[in-house]
Amino acid sequence: MKANLVLLPGDGIGPEIITQARRVLEKIADLHGHEFSFSSHLIGGIAIDSCGNPLPDETVAACKASDAVLLGAVGGPKWDDPAAKTRPEAGLLKIRKELGLFANLRPIKLFDQLVDASPLKREIIQGTDILFFRELTGGIYFGESGRSGSGAEETAFQSMAYSVYEVERIVRMAAKAAQQRDNRLTSVDKANVLEPSRLWRQTAARVMAEEFPEVKYDVVLVDAMAMHLINRPRDFDVVVTGNLFGDILTDEASMLPGSLGMLPSASLGQDGPGLYEPIHGSAPDIAGKGLANPLATILAAAMLLRHSLALMAEADAIETAVGSVLADGLRTNDLARGGDAIGTTAMCDAVLARLQ
Ligand code: NAD
Ligand code: IPM
Ligand code: MN
Repeated sequence: MKANLVLLPGDGIGPEIITQARRVLEKIADLHGHEFSFSSHLIGGIAIDSCGNPLPDETVAACKASDAVLLGAVGGPKWDDPAAKTRPEAGLLKIRKELGLFANLRPIKLFDQLVDASPLKREIIQGTDILFFRELTGGIYFGESGRSGSGAEETAFQSMAYSVYEVERIVRMAAKAAQQRDNRLTSVDKANVLEPSRLWRQTAARVMAEEFPEVKYDVVLVDAMAMHLINRPRDFDVVVTGNLFGDILTDEASMLPGSLGMLPSASLGQDGPGLYEPIHGSAPDIAGKGLANPLATILAAAMLLRHSLALMAEADAIETAVGSVLADGLRTNDLARGGDAIGTTAMCDAVLARLQ
């Protein structure tokens, strides 16, 4: 197979982890006889520094013309001034919107080998396997915002809106995924307080009753969900929720597998290229030190092979190699919990050595 892959390294540890994920994709191409071409483009803070725009037109065009996009991370203290004209994160939001990536799949799957790397108890987390569907191009992230007044009266607002159409399409996608798994779907909202959540809840209930009557369906309020996730994570199969709730709950859920550095994600639309990225950020506290865990990005590359290129065996091969590295006790700092740790490149070397 020939594939045209766009790399968006971005900021902080972004370039370090993308370099490693690319090595894995190159080795897969080699082993399985594929031809992957790579081109790197600017996004985030580095793009602001180079041309004043966190998402240059050229980057959008390259992504649209690609088969899939692999992104590192954007953002950092250098661009954090709340009064700045633009921010790195605006580039990420815009590329999601430009590519129509309304569904962000975030699997929270525990590698058995890592049970003891989690701060949570083995008997609670063992067997956890949740697939989050986070709505990605709507809600409060894309609501109308502004400021008015001055001094103590200065006021800022950002509105949250969801349409029936937006809820229907993400719920349908999540329900179809549930049918391929354990046939259970949980919708998470804040319908006791927020009007968009009430529309979400009504719409989701209707879609489930009309189109997926055989999928076991329930709803949970987001505050309670934050608690259930670390108390009884095994009770959840597929979870569907809005943009902001999904962002927060999945960072929390990263403590089940042990580290933010382990969680990949896939952002998908109706058609066109998907975008794959770790769920973590640019980790400015460890950037440039060779300490970042590259596994989330390497696992994101596996998701890219599976969802955008339908290379199932190749995706499985990466995940198996990662499992084998962990079984051998190799840990980056974030997973070591005070024990011996290896660096970013050595972790990728270990994955490459086990790839078949
Ligand atoms: P972060 O996810 O970057 O880091 C949180 C903590 O997790 C840090 O201690 C960091 O060192 C650690 N961590 C994250 N990834 C790691 C990895 N691969 N290996 C080892 N440790 C890892 O979150 P933050 O510090 O709140 O945000 C930093 C910047 O990243 C902000 O500018 C934020 O906007 C941005 N951000 C970007 C994305 C993205 O590009 N998709 C996602 C989240 C945050
Ligand atoms: C993520 C990040 C982004 C988000 C930011 C950087 C815009 O936190 O991908 O989870 O909030 O979606
Ligand atoms: Mn996030």
